[in-house]
Amino acid sequence: MKRRVYIETFGCQMNVADSERAATGLRASGYDLCDSADDADVVLLNTCSVREKAERKVYTRIGEIRAAQTGKASPLVGVMGCVAQLEGDSIFEHAPSVNMVIGTRATDRISSLIERAREGERKVIDLDERGENDAWDVSPVERHSPHVAFIPIIEGCNKFCSFCIVPYSRGRERSRPANEIVAETRKLQSLGYKEIHLIGQNVNSYRPRVEDGLEGFPGATPFCRLLRAVAATGMPRIKFTTSFPRDFHPDIVTAIEENPNLCDWIHLPVQSGSDRVLKLMRRGHKRSDYLERIARIKSSSRRLALTSDIIVGFPGETDDDFRQTLELVEQCEYDSLYIFKYSRRAGTPAANFDDNVSEREKTNRFLELEKVQRRTQDNIYRSYVGRTLSVLAEKQSSRSESDLSGHSTCHKVVNFAGDRSLEGEIVEVLVTGAKTNSLYGKLIDRAAVV
Ligand code: 5AD
Ligand code: SF4
Repeated sequence: MKRRVYIETFGCQMNVADSERAATGLRASGYDLCDSADDADVVLLNTCSVREKAERKVYTRIGEIRAAQTGKASPLVGVMGCVAQLEGDSIFEHAPSVNMVIGTRATDRISSLIERAREGERKVIDLDERGENDAWDVSPVERHSPHVAFIPIIEGCNKFCSFCIVPYSRGRERSRPANEIVAETRKLQSLGYKEIHLIGQNVNSYRPRVEDGLEGFPGATPFCRLLRAVAATGMPRIKFTTSFPRDFHPDIVTAIEENPNLCDWIHLPVQSGSDRVLKLMRRGHKRSDYLERIARIKSSSRRLALTSDIIVGFPGETDDDFRQTLELVEQCEYDSLYIFKYSRRAGTPAANFDDNVSEREKTNRFLELEKVQRRTQDNIYRSYVGRTLSVLAEKQSSRSESDLSGHSTCHKVVNFAGDRSLEGEIVEVLVTGAKTNSLYGKLIDRAAVV
């Protein structure tokens, strides 16, 4: 019988994409993938380290897996992803029952690492770089959805924002050859996928060594050319995330305006509205630079949804700095906002700053910002009532069996009554109601498949 591997994924889309890639490689090496740790011979935890709390969760989970295995052969346990890369050897000390530590660039070598552990090697560890010929292939059976696919276009980050662990956990930027990305998009389209997300920590700084595949596609930056090349495949819906303000060229908006299949959504994290804090964060942009980018987005001929990330209570953030963030958030009128309380991350430059905003103050700022955002967001969501949106029906709603749930091209969750035969189709939905984070609507035209 084939050995079974269970992969549990925490964190961001990049981890989801890595798990899909790892599963593809493992199946090709003769393993089966399963859906529960209880049935597995090998359990891999693909971990996130962006906040220390997420990291602690990993150790709790290892304890649970070990506790649940009484009376049967114990599975091999591997820690992969960002915690593995950062903590390395010390994971074996924290959790002696761990058999393998698999870094963020070792996804192609997992089956040989498992073999080594099976042969009795203890403390198997691989924190090395990717190989020259590492495969990016993902088999459709391993994708997280049969309708929406993530395509990594750039890995790692060179920005070194002072609060962020990513440049250490994921290493330097590496862009994937353009022709591979275009070919993968075509393949996904032929398999019936309706939506792709081009993903990376900072997609705007996409800079491949090989630009083959972009010939004939104009653009102010390689990313702009890539957007046009991917749009030309005819994939019905293309989204991309995350954008970094300094590298966000206005030509991105122009590319969207030219191509209806480039979706109406831009995620452009600002982190703070105060120049003083932005400087401490080493963001490399000022408030005014950011607002210039926003002005171009807001003046687009298409209504582009805008989302952002904010950190409140960064070391040294004064009440006045925070007021500037509140004001910027009101001004930008975000469709939604991810708010984080600053959390000190060992290994980052900001870990040496005095974390001098009290927990209580961080909570107060969080709640105040949330309230301001909520007001804007309620208005925006209500403004959709009476409008028709193009929605990809992705799955049955978790709330009601008679409803389907999907996303609009402006990346809002839209629920509507409909039967499961519509899953995977792009339909037109008339919005009839708005909640804080989702819209409700009525199917109006089943034939409107793009
Ligand atoms: N503390 C709080 N929030 C953080 N983020 C990243 N690092 C930290 C930290 N140390 C947030 C940023 C980033 C998002 C993915 O997580 O807002 O954009
Ligand atoms: Fe982290 Fe900044 Fe890179 Fe984003 S751009 S991943 S916040 S270092």
